[in-house]
Amino acid sequence: MVKIVFVCLGNICRSPSGEGVFTRLVEEKNYKDKFYIDSAGTSAYHVGEQADSRMRKHAARKGYRLESRSRQFITDDFNSFDYIIAMDSSNYRDILKLDPSGSFKNKVHMMCDFSKEYFNQDIPDPYYGGPEGFDTVITMLEEACSGLLDFIVENEKF
Ligand code: 4NP
Repeated sequence: MVKIVFVCLGNICRSPSGEGVFTRLVEEKNYKDKFYIDSAGTSAYHVGEQADSRMRKHAARKGYRLESRSRQFITDDFNSFDYIIAMDSSNYRDILKLDPSGSFKNKVHMMCDFSKEYFNQDIPDPYYGGPEGFDTVITMLEEACSGLLDFIVENEKF
């Protein structure tokens, strides 16, 4: 079983969407039994909350139901997960701060490392912006998650 966790700041917009988009993709490609998929936030701001209602609305329009509850990323997650996927460079730095020895650095990736179209970009934080930001999140995640799945299928020799 490959264990993967998507990580953003609040775990109510981008990372629950990453979890939702990647889950559907994995189901469509018949790899469901091979994955455990989760999401978390580097902050504790929204722990226990459902995904942001604006994010859920925009995700639903593209057929994704976001059902996770926010939790904070913890150091134990470095052991529990094989792939730790940060939505932006600030999330990436905050995750690595929890691993001062660098033992788990090879597990931590940027979401857009796996994207052709958005390579080297952050998934922009939509929280304080307008509705189009939530659509951008889904559009970017669909492309990047497809690249991520291709990478894992090859890397894990499925
Ligand atoms: P997320 O979005 O990191 O994609 O879940 C945010 C959610 C909440 C806040 C910031 C970003 N906040 O500052 O409360």
